[in-house]
Amino acid sequence: MDILNVENIRKSFRNNISFGKEEVLRDLSLFAGEGEILGFLGPNGAGKTTTIKIIVGLIRPDSGKVRILGNSVSDRRTRRLIGFLPENPFFYPHLTLEEFLIFCGKMSGMKGKMLKVRMESMIDKVGLARHKKKRLSTFSKGMIQRAGLAQAVIHDPDLLILDEPFSGLDPLGRKMVRDFLLELKDRGKTIFFSSHILSDMEALCDRASIIREGVIVKNVGLDELFIMGEGKVEITARGYPECMAGEINQYADSVQRSGDETFIVVNRQEYVRSLIQHLLNNGAEILRVAGVQPSLEEIFVSEVAAVENGNQKTTTGEIPRVETSV
Ligand SMILES: Nc1ncnc2c1ncn2[C@@H]1O[C@H](COP(=O)(O)OP(=O)(O)OP(=O)(O)O)[C@@H](O)[C@H]1O
Ligand SMILES: [Mg+2]
Repeated sequence: MDILNVENIRKSFRNNISFGKEEVLRDLSLFAGEGEILGFLGPNGAGKTTTIKIIVGLIRPDSGKVRILGNSVSDRRTRRLIGFLPENPFFYPHLTLEEFLIFCGKMSGMKGKMLKVRMESMIDKVGLARHKKKRLSTFSKGMIQRAGLAQAVIHDPDLLILDEPFSGLDPLGRKMVRDFLLELKDRGKTIFFSSHILSDMEALCDRASIIREGVIVKNVGLDELFIMGEGKVEITARGYPECMAGEINQYADSVQRSGDETFIVVNRQEYVRSLIQHLLNNGAEILRVAGVQPSLEEIFVSEVAAVENGNQKTTTGEIPRVETSV
Protein backbone atom coordinates (compact mmCIF):
# COMPACT_ATOMS: atom_id res chain seq x y z
CA MET A 1 0.00 0.00 0.00
CA ASP A 2 1.18 3.58 -0.67
CA ILE A 3 2.11 5.44 2.48
CA LEU A 4 1.26 8.76 0.84
CA ASN A 5 -1.35 9.04 -1.86
CA VAL A 6 -2.42 12.41 -3.27
CA GLU A 7 -5.12 12.18 -5.88
CA ASN A 8 -6.33 14.86 -8.29
CA ILE A 9 -5.90 17.82 -5.96
CA ARG A 10 -7.24 21.19 -7.04
CA LYS A 11 -6.79 24.40 -5.10
CA SER A 12 -7.63 28.01 -5.90
CA PHE A 13 -6.88 31.16 -3.94
CA ARG A 14 -8.68 34.47 -4.19
CA ASN A 15 -6.62 36.99 -6.11
CA ASN A 16 -6.51 40.20 -4.06
CA ILE A 17 -6.03 42.39 -7.11
CA SER A 18 -8.58 41.07 -9.58
CA PHE A 19 -10.87 39.60 -6.87
CA GLY A 20 -11.12 36.56 -9.10
CA LYS A 21 -9.88 33.08 -8.26
CA GLU A 22 -6.47 31.82 -9.22
CA GLU A 23 -6.00 28.09 -9.60
CA VAL A 24 -2.72 27.16 -7.93
CA LEU A 25 -2.95 23.36 -8.03
CA ARG A 26 -4.50 21.71 -11.06
CA ASP A 27 -5.33 18.04 -10.80
CA LEU A 28 -2.14 17.18 -8.96
CA SER A 29 -1.42 13.56 -8.06
CA LEU A 30 1.51 12.00 -6.22
CA PHE A 31 2.32 8.84 -4.33
CA ALA A 32 5.15 7.51 -2.20
CA GLY A 33 5.63 3.94 -1.04
CA GLU A 34 7.12 2.54 2.17
CA GLY A 35 10.80 3.34 2.62
CA GLU A 36 10.82 5.62 -0.39
CA ILE A 37 12.33 9.11 -0.60
CA LEU A 38 10.34 11.24 -3.02
CA GLY A 39 11.72 14.64 -3.99
CA PHE A 40 9.43 17.54 -4.93
CA LEU A 41 11.04 19.93 -7.30
CA GLY A 42 9.74 23.07 -8.93
CA PRO A 43 10.42 26.75 -9.47
CA ASN A 44 9.28 29.45 -7.03
CA GLY A 45 5.52 29.73 -6.88
CA ALA A 46 4.93 26.34 -8.55
CA GLY A 47 2.71 25.10 -5.72
CA LYS A 48 5.05 22.97 -3.58
CA THR A 49 4.24 24.54 -0.20
CA THR A 50 0.52 24.61 -1.02
CA THR A 51 0.62 20.88 -1.82
CA ILE A 52 2.53 20.17 1.38
CA LYS A 53 0.09 22.20 3.49
CA ILE A 54 -2.77 20.20 1.99
CA ILE A 55 -0.99 16.90 2.70
CA VAL A 56 -0.49 17.74 6.38
CA GLY A 57 -4.05 19.06 6.71
CA LEU A 58 -3.23 22.76 7.28
CA ILE A 59 -5.40 23.79 4.34
CA ARG A 60 -8.13 21.96 2.48
CA PRO A 61 -8.16 21.24 -1.23
CA ASP A 62 -11.13 22.38 -3.33
CA SER A 63 -11.32 18.83 -4.62
CA GLY A 64 -9.24 15.67 -4.62
CA LYS A 65 -8.07 13.34 -1.86
CA VAL A 66 -5.07 12.86 0.40
CA ARG A 67 -4.60 9.45 1.98
CA ILE A 68 -1.94 8.56 4.53
CA LEU A 69 -1.70 4.78 4.95
CA GLY A 70 -5.13 4.67 3.40
CA ASN A 71 -6.69 7.09 5.93
CA SER A 72 -7.78 10.70 5.78
CA VAL A 73 -5.40 13.30 7.18
CA SER A 74 -8.26 14.84 9.15
CA ASP A 75 -8.08 11.80 11.45
CA ARG A 76 -5.97 12.66 14.56
CA ARG A 77 -4.38 9.21 14.71
CA THR A 78 -3.29 9.57 11.11
CA ARG A 79 -1.71 12.96 11.82
CA ARG A 80 0.46 11.34 14.50
CA LEU A 81 2.03 9.18 11.79
CA ILE A 82 3.35 12.33 10.10
CA GLY A 83 6.40 14.41 10.95
CA PHE A 84 6.31 17.87 9.40
CA LEU A 85 8.95 20.53 8.87
CA PRO A 86 7.35 23.76 7.57
CA GLU A 87 8.99 26.03 5.01
CA ASN A 88 9.65 28.92 7.42
CA PRO A 89 9.55 27.35 10.86
CA PHE A 90 8.50 29.67 13.66
CA PHE A 91 8.76 28.09 17.07
CA TYR A 92 8.01 29.49 20.53
CA PRO A 93 11.08 31.74 21.01
CA HIS A 94 11.03 31.76 24.81
CA LEU A 95 11.44 27.98 25.06
CA THR A 96 14.84 26.31 25.25
CA LEU A 97 15.47 23.59 22.69
CA GLU A 98 14.91 20.91 25.34
CA GLU A 99 11.63 22.46 26.50
CA PHE A 100 10.47 22.83 22.92
CA LEU A 101 11.13 19.19 22.02
CA ILE A 102 9.49 17.94 25.22
CA PHE A 103 6.46 20.09 24.34
CA CYS A 104 6.35 18.66 20.79
CA GLY A 105 6.73 15.10 22.09
CA LYS A 106 3.87 15.59 24.56
CA MET A 107 1.69 16.98 21.79
CA SER A 108 2.25 13.68 19.98
CA GLY A 109 1.27 11.62 23.02
CA MET A 110 4.77 10.82 24.33
CA LYS A 111 5.78 11.18 27.98
CA GLY A 112 8.17 10.28 30.77
CA LYS A 113 11.61 8.75 30.43
CA MET A 114 11.02 7.56 26.89
CA LEU A 115 10.40 11.12 25.73
CA LYS A 116 13.53 12.38 27.52
CA VAL A 117 15.72 9.70 25.97
CA ARG A 118 14.26 10.34 22.56
CA MET A 119 14.73 14.10 22.96
CA GLU A 120 18.43 13.72 23.87
CA SER A 121 19.02 11.37 20.98
CA MET A 122 17.33 13.68 18.44
CA ILE A 123 19.27 16.70 19.72
CA ASP A 124 22.47 14.72 19.17
CA LYS A 125 21.35 13.63 15.72
CA VAL A 126 20.84 17.19 14.51
CA GLY A 127 24.13 18.36 16.06
CA LEU A 128 22.64 20.75 18.65
CA ALA A 129 23.81 19.08 21.88
CA ARG A 130 25.84 22.16 22.89
CA HIS A 131 22.79 24.40 22.49
CA LYS A 132 20.03 22.42 24.17
CA LYS A 133 19.71 24.82 27.12
CA LYS A 134 19.54 27.92 24.91
CA ARG A 135 16.32 29.72 24.08
CA LEU A 136 15.13 29.35 20.48
CA SER A 137 15.08 33.16 20.19
CA THR A 138 18.89 33.04 20.18
CA PHE A 139 19.09 30.42 17.42
CA SER A 140 20.46 31.19 13.94
CA LYS A 141 18.43 30.25 10.84
CA GLY A 142 20.41 27.03 10.35
CA MET A 143 19.98 26.10 14.03
CA ILE A 144 16.22 26.67 13.78
CA GLN A 145 16.18 24.43 10.74
CA ARG A 146 17.98 21.70 12.70
CA ALA A 147 15.60 22.16 15.66
CA GLY A 148 12.73 21.91 13.16
CA LEU A 149 13.98 18.58 11.92
CA ALA A 150 14.34 17.29 15.48
CA GLN A 151 10.72 18.25 16.28
CA ALA A 152 9.54 16.60 13.05
CA VAL A 153 11.00 13.23 14.06
CA ILE A 154 10.66 13.32 17.86
CA HIS A 155 7.64 10.97 17.81
CA ASP A 156 9.24 8.54 15.33
CA PRO A 157 6.69 9.13 12.53
CA ASP A 158 6.30 6.77 9.56
CA LEU A 159 5.99 9.59 7.03
CA LEU A 160 8.15 12.70 7.00
CA ILE A 161 6.99 15.74 5.06
CA LEU A 162 9.74 18.34 4.80
CA ASP A 163 9.40 21.69 3.05
CA GLU A 164 12.89 22.84 2.01
CA PRO A 165 14.75 20.94 4.75
CA PHE A 166 18.17 22.08 3.51
CA SER A 167 17.33 25.77 3.50
CA GLY A 168 19.76 27.83 5.59
CA LEU A 169 22.09 24.91 6.31
CA ASP A 170 25.86 25.04 5.84
CA PRO A 171 27.58 22.16 3.95
CA LEU A 172 28.15 20.22 7.18
CA GLY A 173 24.52 20.70 8.18
CA ARG A 174 23.41 19.52 4.74
CA LYS A 175 25.50 16.39 5.03
CA MET A 176 24.15 15.75 8.51
CA VAL A 177 20.55 16.05 7.32
CA ARG A 178 21.28 13.88 4.27
CA ASP A 179 22.82 11.13 6.42
CA PHE A 180 19.98 11.36 8.92
CA LEU A 181 17.31 11.07 6.22
CA LEU A 182 19.08 8.08 4.67
CA GLU A 183 19.21 6.43 8.10
CA LEU A 184 15.45 6.99 8.48
CA LYS A 185 14.87 5.52 5.03
CA ASP A 186 16.89 2.44 6.05
CA ARG A 187 14.48 2.08 8.97
CA GLY A 188 11.60 1.96 6.47
CA LYS A 189 10.40 5.56 6.87
CA THR A 190 8.85 7.34 3.89
CA ILE A 191 10.13 10.83 3.14
CA PHE A 192 8.62 13.49 0.91
CA PHE A 193 10.58 16.70 0.68
CA SER A 194 10.82 19.78 -1.46
CA SER A 195 14.13 21.41 -2.26
CA HIS A 196 15.84 23.74 -4.64
CA ILE A 197 19.19 22.13 -3.95
CA LEU A 198 19.30 19.62 -6.72
CA SER A 199 22.54 17.93 -5.70
CA ASP A 200 20.99 17.06 -2.32
CA MET A 201 17.92 15.78 -4.07
CA GLU A 202 19.99 13.66 -6.43
CA ALA A 203 21.95 12.16 -3.55
CA LEU A 204 18.82 11.20 -1.62
CA CYS A 205 15.80 10.53 -3.78
CA ASP A 206 14.49 7.32 -5.24
CA ARG A 207 12.25 9.45 -7.43
CA ALA A 208 11.53 13.11 -7.99
CA SER A 209 8.28 14.76 -9.10
CA ILE A 210 8.72 18.01 -10.96
CA ILE A 211 5.90 20.52 -10.52
CA ARG A 212 5.31 23.57 -12.66
CA GLU A 213 2.33 25.91 -12.35
CA GLY A 214 0.41 23.50 -10.18
CA VAL A 215 0.86 20.47 -12.42
CA ILE A 216 3.31 17.57 -12.21
CA VAL A 217 5.19 17.84 -15.49
CA LYS A 218 7.51 14.91 -14.95
CA ASN A 219 8.22 12.03 -12.59
CA VAL A 220 11.86 10.98 -12.73
CA GLY A 221 13.12 7.72 -11.23
CA LEU A 222 16.78 7.04 -10.62
CA ASP A 223 16.57 4.10 -13.03
CA GLU A 224 15.10 6.43 -15.61
CA LEU A 225 17.95 8.88 -15.11
CA PHE A 226 20.27 6.03 -15.93
CA ILE A 227 18.39 5.02 -19.07
CA MET A 228 18.17 8.62 -20.25
CA GLY A 229 21.95 8.86 -20.12
CA GLU A 230 22.58 5.52 -21.77
CA GLY A 231 24.53 5.66 -24.98
CA LYS A 232 25.80 9.21 -24.45
CA VAL A 233 29.55 9.52 -24.31
CA GLU A 234 31.70 12.54 -23.61
CA ILE A 235 35.09 12.71 -25.32
CA THR A 236 37.65 15.19 -24.04
CA ALA A 237 40.50 15.96 -26.45
CA ARG A 238 43.46 18.31 -26.30
CA GLY A 239 44.92 20.09 -29.31
CA TYR A 240 42.08 19.61 -31.80
CA PRO A 241 42.21 22.63 -34.13
CA GLU A 242 39.33 25.02 -33.39
CA CYS A 243 38.90 25.76 -37.08
CA MET A 244 37.83 22.12 -37.65
CA ALA A 245 34.99 22.13 -35.10
CA GLY A 246 32.44 22.49 -37.92
CA GLU A 247 33.39 19.01 -39.16
CA ILE A 248 32.25 17.25 -35.98
CA ASN A 249 29.23 19.39 -35.08
CA GLN A 250 26.85 17.17 -36.98
CA TYR A 251 27.92 14.05 -35.03
CA ALA A 252 27.68 15.57 -31.58
CA ASP A 253 25.00 16.80 -29.15
CA SER A 254 27.40 19.50 -28.12
CA VAL A 255 30.94 20.65 -28.85
CA GLN A 256 32.53 23.01 -26.33
CA ARG A 257 36.01 24.41 -26.01
CA SER A 258 37.98 25.59 -23.01
CA GLY A 259 41.58 26.63 -23.74
CA ASP A 260 43.05 23.97 -26.03
CA GLU A 261 40.62 21.31 -24.79
CA THR A 262 37.51 20.24 -26.70
CA PHE A 263 34.56 18.51 -24.99
CA ILE A 264 32.34 16.53 -27.31
CA VAL A 265 29.11 14.81 -26.23
CA VAL A 266 28.13 12.08 -28.68
CA ASN A 267 24.79 10.34 -28.35
CA ARG A 268 25.34 7.44 -30.70
CA GLN A 269 27.78 4.72 -29.75
CA GLU A 270 28.55 4.05 -33.40
CA TYR A 271 30.08 7.51 -33.82
CA VAL A 272 32.47 7.22 -30.92
CA ARG A 273 35.19 5.11 -32.52
CA SER A 274 35.30 7.06 -35.79
CA LEU A 275 35.21 10.41 -33.94
CA ILE A 276 38.20 9.37 -31.85
CA GLN A 277 40.00 8.29 -35.02
CA HIS A 278 39.18 11.65 -36.61
CA LEU A 279 40.51 13.56 -33.58
CA LEU A 280 43.74 11.54 -33.54
CA ASN A 281 44.21 11.98 -37.29
CA ASN A 282 44.04 15.74 -36.76
CA GLY A 283 46.76 15.89 -34.11
CA ALA A 284 44.54 15.77 -30.97
CA GLU A 285 45.33 13.82 -27.84
CA ILE A 286 42.40 11.97 -26.24
CA LEU A 287 42.25 12.82 -22.51
CA ARG A 288 39.06 11.09 -21.47
CA VAL A 289 36.15 9.05 -22.81
CA ALA A 290 33.27 8.63 -20.35
CA GLY A 291 29.57 7.76 -20.24
CA VAL A 292 27.24 10.66 -19.47
CA GLN A 293 24.20 10.72 -17.21
CA PRO A 294 21.98 13.76 -17.27
CA SER A 295 21.78 15.42 -13.89
CA LEU A 296 18.46 16.11 -12.21
CA GLU A 297 19.27 19.76 -12.76
CA GLU A 298 19.47 19.25 -16.54
CA ILE A 299 16.14 17.41 -16.53
CA PHE A 300 14.57 20.07 -14.32
CA VAL A 301 15.76 22.93 -16.49
CA SER A 302 14.77 21.08 -19.64
CA GLU A 303 11.25 20.25 -18.38
CA VAL A 304 10.57 23.72 -17.00
CA ALA A 305 11.89 25.34 -20.19
CA ALA A 306 9.80 22.96 -22.30
CA VAL A 307 6.60 23.99 -20.53
CA GLU A 308 7.61 27.64 -20.73
CA ASN A 309 8.06 27.24 -24.50
CA GLY A 310 4.71 25.51 -24.71
CA ASN A 311 6.08 22.16 -25.91
CA GLN A 312 6.74 18.96 -24.01
CA LYS A 313 10.10 18.04 -25.49
CA THR A 314 11.93 14.97 -24.19
CA THR A 315 15.28 15.23 -22.51
CA THR A 316 16.90 12.76 -24.86
CA GLY A 317 17.30 15.00 -27.90
CA GLU A 318 18.11 13.09 -31.07
CA ILE A 319 20.86 14.14 -33.41
CA PRO A 320 20.10 13.73 -37.13
CA ARG A 321 21.20 10.47 -38.74
CA VAL A 322 24.12 10.97 -41.11
CA GLU A 323 25.24 8.52 -43.73
CA THR A 324 28.95 9.30 -43.94
CA SER A 325 31.45 8.50 -41.24
CA VAL A 326 34.20 10.84 -40.10
N1 LIG B 1 -2.77 31.98 1.06
C1 LIG B 1 -2.59 32.30 -0.22
N2 LIG B 1 -3.37 33.22 -0.82
C2 LIG B 1 -3.21 33.54 -2.13
N3 LIG B 1 -2.29 32.97 -2.92
C3 LIG B 1 -1.47 32.05 -2.39
C4 LIG B 1 -1.58 31.67 -1.00
N4 LIG B 1 -0.65 30.71 -0.76
C5 LIG B 1 0.01 30.52 -1.92
N5 LIG B 1 -0.48 31.32 -2.89
C6 LIG B 1 -0.04 31.36 -4.30
O1 LIG B 1 0.08 30.02 -4.75
C7 LIG B 1 1.17 29.89 -5.63
C8 LIG B 1 2.03 28.75 -5.16
O2 LIG B 1 2.62 29.11 -3.92
P1 LIG B 1 3.52 28.09 -3.09
O3 LIG B 1 3.91 28.77 -1.83
O4 LIG B 1 2.79 26.80 -2.99
O5 LIG B 1 4.78 27.93 -4.06
P2 LIG B 1 6.15 27.13 -3.86
O6 LIG B 1 6.28 26.17 -4.99
O7 LIG B 1 6.22 26.56 -2.49
O8 LIG B 1 7.24 28.29 -4.04
P3 LIG B 1 8.66 28.51 -3.34
O9 LIG B 1 9.62 27.63 -4.08
O10 LIG B 1 8.95 29.94 -3.56
O11 LIG B 1 8.56 28.15 -1.90
C9 LIG B 1 1.87 31.24 -5.66
O12 LIG B 1 1.46 31.92 -6.82
C10 LIG B 1 1.37 31.94 -4.42
O13 LIG B 1 1.30 33.32 -4.61
MG1 LIG C 1 7.46 26.90 -0.88
